[in-house]
Amino acid sequence: MSQTNYIEVTGKTKLEGIVNIPGAKNATLPMMCAALLTDEVCEFHNVPEISDIAILLEVFEFLGAKISRNLETKIITIQAKNIDPEKLEHCEELKKLRATILLLGPLLARFGKATIVQPGGDIIGARPNNIHTDGLQEFGAKLLQNDRKLSLEFKNDKLKNKRLLLPEASVTGTENLAIFLAGIADTAEMYFTAAEPHVCATLRMLQTMGAKIEGIGTHHLKITGTKKLKGGIFKIPPDGILVGTYAIAGLITQGTLEINNVNHKELFSFYGIIKRLGANFEINENQLKILPSPNLTGGVKVQTAIYPGFSTDIQSPMGLLLTQCTGESIIFETLFENRLAYLYELEKMGAKIEILNAHQAKITGKINFKGAEVQSWDLRAGATVVLAGLIAEGTTKVTNIQYIDRGYEHFVENLQRLGANIKRV
Ligand code: EPU
Repeated sequence: MSQTNYIEVTGKTKLEGIVNIPGAKNATLPMMCAALLTDEVCEFHNVPEISDIAILLEVFEFLGAKISRNLETKIITIQAKNIDPEKLEHCEELKKLRATILLLGPLLARFGKATIVQPGGDIIGARPNNIHTDGLQEFGAKLLQNDRKLSLEFKNDKLKNKRLLLPEASVTGTENLAIFLAGIADTAEMYFTAAEPHVCATLRMLQTMGAKIEGIGTHHLKITGTKKLKGGIFKIPPDGILVGTYAIAGLITQGTLEINNVNHKELFSFYGIIKRLGANFEINENQLKILPSPNLTGGVKVQTAIYPGFSTDIQSPMGLLLTQCTGESIIFETLFENRLAYLYELEKMGAKIEILNAHQAKITGKINFKGAEVQSWDLRAGATVVLAGLIAEGTTKVTNIQYIDRGYEHFVENLQRLGANIKRV
């Protein structure tokens, strides 16, 4: 993967065919981190082939974990028997991913100390760590350093406080704290926890490993941990963000797409919005079928929210879809303050956008796009501008595509297979 690569798309082709949805990035990352709680083997099935996972595996190898990966079967095994947590103090790879914050919970529970280089990640907002660090401190950890490095110590056998109210239903905050609690032989309750399906997948993994957890899928968890967590075989659930992204690719190109391996439950708010826009689609068992939808009408307000609300991770492709609907619509991104930047890129292609403030924008459609040179601001923004290229007159060049590789498995190849005129240059 080179940062000098770009993607070239020549627009005006209809997408037709079948897409098989891979495992979810945002489930794989915490589940792989939970494997650090035990010295037994954890085997993961349905692991997506994306760069975020490759980076995390490099970090695990740096730590001393034994890894095997089969790209054909999509199976990865991790055995964290002889890991040395001290090594992460010098692991610059951690800066590449926000999700490396998830190393704190398991290492602190298992070794009583965790020091990591401050995590990096997408530039979609401030991305503070306070929910993670404050929560761990509430439970009795001591914060030793929080600048270039993040270092905590937990010298107790028991938790200091048994109840924690999260200030926001943070996804990785819930995962990190739950992973930590699963490795401590004590009981605690957490309120206002995240309930996204991929968070539930991590919690169910912790149950299989031996922790007792009540309240999965709700905003109140009760967790009793143990020092003797086991390994096991764990299946990564499908990526709902990719379902939304490919569905929008089908809708804007007036194509017919069969999207397989879909967990419909996590997409109800998405289905609700595309139905209001006038999209034609069928919900079949584990499959979403997108049909040509010539009369898409806007006039909606799309507001992101925690699950089961509309996911912030499908907000950017949804903004693109709204440019192809007649009338005025509003996007309200409630979670992150830099997640509307892709709209400036769509403007370069002809979109009619009014940015109202850091969180809100008005989109007026329907607009015929013209090819342009645009950049990928973050992972979701990158996929969105590629999709915009599919409907533009002429050729679109998308730069900064390393972001797209972080979370979209074989994106260019899949779009090619569906009939898009697209290549990586
Ligand atoms: N927040 C804090 N303090 C914290 C953590 C979060 O104030 O310590 C705030 C955030 O600023 C945000 C809100 O809480 O306003 C919710 O953020 P959350 O913590 O839920 O986000 P996250 O855990 O950092 C995960 C995903 C993101 C996804 C969000 C929301 C992973 C690895 N990342 O991030 O995924 O957008 O949840 O669902 O699971 C992506 O895949 O493109 C991506 C950015």
